[in-house]
Amino acid sequence: MTIVPIDGKVVLEAVRTAVDRYGATRDELIPILNDVNREIGYLPGEALDEISRLLRVPKSHLFSVASFYRMLSTKPRGKHVIQFCESAPCHVAGGREVWMAVKEALKIDEDETTPDGNWTLVTTSCLGVCGVGPVMMIDDDIFGNVDAKQVQSILARYH
Ligand code: FES
Repeated sequence: MTIVPIDGKVVLEAVRTAVDRYGATRDELIPILNDVNREIGYLPGEALDEISRLLRVPKSHLFSVASFYRMLSTKPRGKHVIQFCESAPCHVAGGREVWMAVKEALKIDEDETTPDGNWTLVTTSCLGVCGVGPVMMIDDDIFGNVDAKQVQSILARYH
C-alpha cells in the first residue's frame, strides 16, 4: 500500500478546527478525536501531540482511547473502512457467512488494508441495530440484513 505522507500543516489545522468546534476540554475528547480521524483518515502522531498539548491530556491516554474505539486508528487506513459487527445477535443471524464473503471479496483479513489502499476491514461490537442483523458499516453507511450474495454489489457502490 502506498502511504501518502501527511502534511503537518493539514494535521494541525484539522486538530485546531476540531478543538475550536468542541472546546479545549477533556469532556469533548471523543468528538475531537473522531473529527480528526475522519478528516485525516487516522490519528497521526502529530495530531496526538497537538491534542495532548491543547487539552492537557497525556498522550498515553489518547492512545488507550484510540485503541478502545474501533472507529479510531493510529495507523493509516484504507479509503473506505468496513466495520463488521461480530456480536452474538448478528452472528446467529448469519454473520459468519457474510464475514467470510467480505474477506473473500477483498482478499484481506481482519485489521488489514487492501494493497491498493481502498479498503480496511475491522470488526466491531454491536452497532445498535441488532434487529436487522447481520450488520456492517461502510464509512458512515449502515447495511442491515446483509446476505453473503449481496456483498459484491454492496462493495461495488464504493470507488
Ligand atoms: S449485534 Fe450486530 S448490530 Fe447489534
